[in-house]
Amino acid sequence: MTDVTWSVSWETELDDAAHASLAALLGRAYAAQSVRFGDGRSWAGARPELRVIARAGETPVAHAGIIRRFLRALPDGPDVLVGDVGLVAVDPGQHGHGVGRALMAQVVATLVDLDVPFGFVSCGPDVEGFYRAAGWTRLPGVTVHLIDTHHRTRVDPGPAMVHAAGRSLSAWPAARMFARDGQLV
Ligand SMILES: CC(C)(COP(=O)(O)OP(=O)(O)OC[C@H]1O[C@@H](n2cnc3c(N)ncnc32)[C@H](O)[C@@H]1OP(=O)(O)O)[C@@H](O)C(=O)NCCC(=O)NCCS
Repeated sequence: MTDVTWSVSWETELDDAAHASLAALLGRAYAAQSVRFGDGRSWAGARPELRVIARAGETPVAHAGIIRRFLRALPDGPDVLVGDVGLVAVDPGQHGHGVGRALMAQVVATLVDLDVPFGFVSCGPDVEGFYRAAGWTRLPGVTVHLIDTHHRTRVDPGPAMVHAAGRSLSAWPAARMFARDGQLV
């Protein structure tokens, strides 16, 4: 793995140049959706609260965004506080060398520092294996009501992945349906 420097930055700590370089990384990693990251826009849906970034020199080569929010277990609760993780990206030139795994380890350490009980990711089926390899657990048979990056409400049957942070996974609510009332990170 290339030598990288890790940082964790709150959203208001990053200036326009930092967002522009993150937007460039996200455009490379999400090539089919690169238009979303035009004009130095380093987010697609909700802006993260904080970002875990690996840089090789000055250049970002890996990134994940985190936002703290409550998911509602349906129909009757409880609400569960999560660190909602998204915009997980490794520079295509670095794929397959363990950078993504290292990124997710940094994410979990950050979630622990934040003192949130759990990490949460809703991902595509094509990357479920990546999260599993990084120690995340798929919630079996769970669907999530969410607001997508186009502001549409939809029910996502895709993999909902969790990771213990401040609490053991045994404390995760047993519900089969959750609502995330904020936009996807
Ligand atoms: C998904 C992504 C972050 C993986 O980064 P990476 O640096 O190539 O991953 P690593 O090399 O650290 O791989 C870690 C493990 O995950 C596995 N893995 C990586 N990508 C995978 C995938 N798409 N599906 C299944 N397993 C995968 C690797 O085989 C490896 O497992 P192993 O150590 O048991 O061999 C990277 O491919 C990427 O940025 N993709 C585009 C953006 C994206 O899809 N992000 C996720 C959105 S939810």
